[in-house]
Amino acid sequence: MSRKRSWAEPYKIKMVEPVFMTTQVEREKFIQEAGYNTFLLRSRDVYIDLLTDSGTSAMSDRQWAGIMMGDEAYAGSENFYHLESTIQDYYGYKFVVPTHQGRGAEHLISQILIKEGDYIPGNMYFTTTRLHQELAGGTFVDVIIDEAHDPDSEYPFKGNVDLNKLETLIKEKGADKIPYVSIATTVNMAGGQPISMKNLREVRALTDKYGIRIVHDMTRVAENAYMIKLLEDGFSELPVADIIKEICSLTDAATMSSKKDALVSIGGFLAINDEEIFAEARNLVVVYEGLHTYGGMAGRDMEALAIGITESVQDDHIRARVGQVHYLGEKLKASGIPIVNPIGTHGIFIDAKKFLPHLTQDMFPAQALAAEIYIDSGVRTMERGIVSAGRNKETGEHNYPNLELVRLTIPRRVYTQAHMDVIAESVEYVYENRNSISGLKMIFEPKYLRFFQARFEKL
Ligand code: F0G
Repeated sequence: MSRKRSWAEPYKIKMVEPVFMTTQVEREKFIQEAGYNTFLLRSRDVYIDLLTDSGTSAMSDRQWAGIMMGDEAYAGSENFYHLESTIQDYYGYKFVVPTHQGRGAEHLISQILIKEGDYIPGNMYFTTTRLHQELAGGTFVDVIIDEAHDPDSEYPFKGNVDLNKLETLIKEKGADKIPYVSIATTVNMAGGQPISMKNLREVRALTDKYGIRIVHDMTRVAENAYMIKLLEDGFSELPVADIIKEICSLTDAATMSSKKDALVSIGGFLAINDEEIFAEARNLVVVYEGLHTYGGMAGRDMEALAIGITESVQDDHIRARVGQVHYLGEKLKASGIPIVNPIGTHGIFIDAKKFLPHLTQDMFPAQALAAEIYIDSGVRTMERGIVSAGRNKETGEHNYPNLELVRLTIPRRVYTQAHMDVIAESVEYVYENRNSISGLKMIFEPKYLRFFQARFEKL
């Protein structure tokens, strides 16, 4: 018989942050005042915060010690050189430009590489990434496999690129109109789904044939590497750190939001192998972010990031991180809650269309469900459906996305297994009482990115 060992955390707790408990009557008032939008709640009124995994991780004692080692010189901070060598060592890219967070790096690379009229294929869009591509004059084209748009498909690598879609686009538009292919590890909007090494190698071979670059959104690369280790033939014995390095080696440049994988509250970078592009980025960063040795980060934040990167690639860490997400996902599945399959690596995505079949999509089922979960238990989640998808620019009608989801995003190293149990109990209770949940009516709609500030009323 093989020895069983569960995913338990490879750390112990040294400091805690008390949270405020509220009553259901109070929460009904808070969410009504927030216009049934979880983005408009105050964090002090939230018990377990699953709004995002961005900037919400717990730092280690080593990282906090690093904070005290901040060298806040305007130019040439020691912490920058530590960060630069850490990125070179663990990810293998040659040149580093620090930025204040991921979208700062997306802005720089888009401005440098994209010309008016260009096309940027990618394995599904991310909001800020696509917006910077569009602002630079480009058009994003989704070349992810069809399975990624189907919440019921059990395909293990739903982050894969459909090579036929990609090659058709290259032939149709011409390689000179495609400055790069945008590859995310893992794919956030698909539910935290990984790309396989086999598929990435094939994308590399195809882009090499046409002389096209690959720009890697490496925001959750360690989580992707861990899924390759778990699921792909030939990787089970390799350390996650080696798999990460191979992923990076198949790409030409990378944008990073350090607020996720890399275990810090703020920060990011652009990493590049081409010296000329680096020279341009190093010049442009001083316009928008800060000098090329801090790029919008304090020295202490660069130090915490360098240490966070080394912690984030450890097998024990990543096994516990993904293990906790899967623990919650399996629990919800066992009680029949409809979620996106397979379970992703940074959160659980509830299928609100199946959860609330009595509501039509224009009654905002995911928005209503997120509000209801908050009222029941103080657990804050986020809508990823018709509200997030916005309106069609030409017709002014709502976009009706196939995926109408509530995202339960798990911060890293923050919550315990008992918290996961409470979350599951709450979702189960709301599911048992789902027939009494009514839809919402939008009473205030901002012009841009409406999901952040829209207000609703119960129907
Ligand atoms: N790329 C991906 C895949 C992301 O998930 C994010 C942020 C970014 C880029 C942008 O990075 O926030 O540092 O500027 N995602 C957060 C989320 C906001 O909640 O999913 P940033």
